[in-house]
Amino acid sequence: KRLILIGPPGSGKGTQSPIIKNDYCLCHLSTGDMLRAAVAAKTPLGVKAKEAMDKGELVSDDLVVGIIDEAMKKPSCQKGFILDGFPRTVVQAQKLDEMLQKQGVKVDKVLNFAIDDAILEERITGRWIHPSSGRTYHTKFAPPKNPGVDDVTGEPLIQRKDDTAAVLKSRLDAFHKQTESVIDYYSGKGIVANLPAEKAPQEVTAEVQKVLAS
Ligand code: AP5
Ligand code: ZN
Repeated sequence: KRLILIGPPGSGKGTQSPIIKNDYCLCHLSTGDMLRAAVAAKTPLGVKAKEAMDKGELVSDDLVVGIIDEAMKKPSCQKGFILDGFPRTVVQAQKLDEMLQKQGVKVDKVLNFAIDDAILEERITGRWIHPSSGRTYHTKFAPPKNPGVDDVTGEPLIQRKDDTAAVLKSRLDAFHKQTESVIDYYSGKGIVANLPAEKAPQEVTAEVQKVLAS
């Protein structure tokens, strides 16, 4: 399947992605993860993206469209994919349509992680990440077996630089001003499924599975 995951920061896109990936054998492309890797490696792309990311603003359409165009060429992405955090503007959505048209394929479903803003600060400020695997924990909702340490590798967990209450405000602002219109764009095509993203992770997974089976 070819899927898009849209939702505000902390709505559970990154948490559900690996589960969907395992069940449906797709490639998972998170523009946020790819940009953070570029920032950490100080590549030219990372240097350009860092300032906007630190402020919680969107990186330019050209940069992220370039990343996705490149990543989608991977053989593992030919049969299907999960786009997590892309497209985030209507321009990005239009560019994606052009890319897919060239391959003669189209997006099957857009999963809209619908959730109230008020819940998100607690989720974001309690998040801990194992950078190399992308495994995500939460001090209250999904704690690791040992505090600050990845369950599988025993390596240290880190917090994202943009996971503060102040930067979250800008990220939410960007979501409402620039990304919500992307949901309307796909609603017009009749492919949006709304998920109750405020429910517990397993319940959200069950809803995702229901949508994907239909
Ligand atoms: P990105 O990495 O995409 O961040 P985001 O959209 O802000 O989303 P998050 O990763 O914060 O949320 P998530 O939904 O994945 O939450 P998670 O599942 O981890 O983007 C970062 C930056 O990169 C942007 O600000 C921008 O600068 C740039 N960028 C990226 N893509 C771009 C694009 N296309 N165009 C332009 N710029 C772009 O869950 C969060 C926490 O909650 C975790 O601790 C988790 O354990 C917990 N949790 C998850 N689900 C539940 C649940 N159901 N109940 C309780 N807790 C839960
Ligand atoms: Zn994420």
